[in-house]
Amino acid sequence: MPGPATMSPPATEQPVTIVTGASRGIGLAIAIALGADRHRLLLVARDEARLAVAAEVVARTGAAVATAALDLRAADAPAAAIAAATRHFGVPTAVVNNAGTAPSDKVENTTPAMLREAIDLHVGAPLQFARLLAPAMKAAGHGCLLHLASTAGLRGHAFTAAYTAAKHGMVGLARALHAELRPAGLDVYAVCPGFVDSDITRAAAAAIAARGRTTAEQAMVRMAAQNRIGRMHRPDEVAAAVAGLLRDRPPGCVLDLDRDEPAFVD
Ligand SMILES: NC(=O)c1ccc[n+]([C@@H]2O[C@H](COP(=O)([O-])OP(=O)(O)OC[C@H]3O[C@@H](n4cnc5c(N)ncnc54)[C@H](OP(=O)(O)O)[C@@H]3O)[C@@H](O)[C@H]2O)c1
Repeated sequence: MPGPATMSPPATEQPVTIVTGASRGIGLAIAIALGADRHRLLLVARDEARLAVAAEVVARTGAAVATAALDLRAADAPAAAIAAATRHFGVPTAVVNNAGTAPSDKVENTTPAMLREAIDLHVGAPLQFARLLAPAMKAAGHGCLLHLASTAGLRGHAFTAAYTAAKHGMVGLARALHAELRPAGLDVYAVCPGFVDSDITRAAAAAIAARGRTTAEQAMVRMAAQNRIGRMHRPDEVAAAVAGLLRDRPPGCVLDLDRDEPAFVD
């Protein structure tokens, strides 16, 4: 496995940012928001065909955009993403760890393999990005590692044991990295929305409906009701919060979006 990346401070003002899970949903909205803020972007997801959406990001923002089709459950995928970003634009100055799946089932159906996959994706990949980029970011005196976590990283939601455990791990990792790397000038965030209207949520609603007690529409309404804000978040709202953190770099770490006024809950 390649060792840590090394770099001098970036030669230009334009950040080089990896956005994982950027082919749809929240990640695509984040790519569009960051493209509008003049980030140079490497978009990562597994399905190469869906990454053709990069053309939409370019058309809407004029940003420089490249893609890498990678499965981030593999331990060497973050190194491959960093290598691709470096080849196209220079060593990354920020990573938005957004790629995710949301396994949902009763605890008696939650297997060790489901937990392992969730941990690999939501905790393992962000740790690898941090491990590989921390030396270069510390040398530069700046850099940002952002985790798209969830209120499932702050509280418990029923039927999501593997996902909730992984998201708590993701928030815990952000807190540890913040404590370690903030003194070196790096910013580490965990952004925690409640249920968001995206493919993950619609798939979960369809799965609930398939069990036969309710319709997918009713399941969506019930999920929205679990949010403290009383409705689904929209991907563009989450993306605006992420872009604001990358722009303004406030000193907190864990941002709870499921409030009338989003607030740090470190
Ligand atoms: N939707 C919600 O209610 C909600 C609420 C709170 C937090 N979140 C978090 O927000 C993030 C984005 O969720 P979303 O709702 O936008 O989901 P989504 O619409 O299903 O998009 C998920 C993205 O992640 C990619 N991805 C999934 N597994 C991957 C893997 N192993 N390697 C690389 N890429 C992978 C997908 O592309 P491929 O399938 O092609 O790989 C896709 O681009 C997730 O971390 C999720 O946990 C979501």
